[in-house]
Amino acid sequence: MTGPVLEVRELVVEFLSEDGPLRAVDGVSLSIGRGEIVGLVGESGAGKTLTSEAILGLIRCPPGRVRGEVRFRGRNLLALPEREMARIRGKEIAMIFQNPAASLNPVFRVGDQLVEALGLHLEGGRGTLRRRAVEILARVGIPAAARRAHDYPHQFSGGMAQRVMIGMGVACVPRLLIADEPTTALDVTIQAQILRLLRELVKERGVSVLFTTHDLGTAHEICDRVVVMYAGQEMESAPSDDFFHRPAHPYTRRLLESLPGADGEIRDIPGEVPSLIGPPPGCRFHPRCDFATAECRARRPDAHAVEGEHRVRCYHPLGAP
Ligand SMILES: Nc1ncnc2c1ncn2[C@@H]1O[C@H](COP(=O)(O)OP(=O)(O)OP(=O)(O)O)[C@@H](O)[C@H]1O
Ligand code: SF4
Ligand SMILES: [Mg+2]
Repeated sequence: MTGPVLEVRELVVEFLSEDGPLRAVDGVSLSIGRGEIVGLVGESGAGKTLTSEAILGLIRCPPGRVRGEVRFRGRNLLALPEREMARIRGKEIAMIFQNPAASLNPVFRVGDQLVEALGLHLEGGRGTLRRRAVEILARVGIPAAARRAHDYPHQFSGGMAQRVMIGMGVACVPRLLIADEPTTALDVTIQAQILRLLRELVKERGVSVLFTTHDLGTAHEICDRVVVMYAGQEMESAPSDDFFHRPAHPYTRRLLESLPGADGEIRDIPGEVPSLIGPPPGCRFHPRCDFATAECRARRPDAHAVEGEHRVRCYHPLGAP
């Protein structure tokens, strides 16, 4: 297939707060090719989860308002009726949520929930689906998987529930997997196992992945391309090698410089993330930027290509002549 599997254009997610409109996602554009893993990174509150939820049509409107375009295999998902979106969710696009406890149904056994998810996609009787469900649980590192399939979600620890969620997400081999901080709560051995599983899915089945993470080390390890968000906007998107070795946006450079070392976790960088109600005019990063000029303070920069697929929302990209 040619062209991107997913193309998001000028996505806006807005809420009405008591103090005025809160634009939590403000004009985000990004694309994901077939078999590509795209990382979505940025500080807490940047709008990563809302972007993911908006793609899947999961923002409740009202109180939220969503605008823009989310093209998936040529169709604008934002214009589809909920009935059709429900068919796409879980089958063609699966999501692993940041909070697994909110996503597993507490009143059904874990194995039964997996069998149901598998039934959307696979042919076969209940016995076959059950065996496959147990295989998936084992593959995401649940010990004694056959026995644990009879347990309810509350009998799993947070990390195990997260692994079950990952199993559910990959069970149907979706075309697009949206994984929101899928490995953050897991210890390093399990994390490595999950990353391996995702890579296999991508390589063997051509699944595309939008991978949200706080952890730039993980993004470096697994992503083909990285998009960084700041205060509701995508500031830079680039192939991983460019992103980590030749960042063009001053914010990306600050993020990379603020990495404390081995763990790769994003820590807060000096200065404050602006309020999303009445954010600074012009470039949202200008109050924290060493390179800000009058132009930066006056007008919002648009994203543009600095080279090939390397795009940046900045008037004075680093490394530019
Ligand atoms: N339903 C809502 N109503 C109003 N504001 C919201 C709502 N949901 C999220 N927000 C705000 O939107 C902003 C972006 O939230 P989001 O959850 O997308 O951030 P994030 O980048 O995923 O952060 P984290 O890394 O902490 O998960 C935050 O400031 C959040 O408080
Ligand atoms: S547009 Fe200006 S303020 Fe914004 S990041 Fe670029 S140089 Fe800094
Ligand atoms: Mg989030």
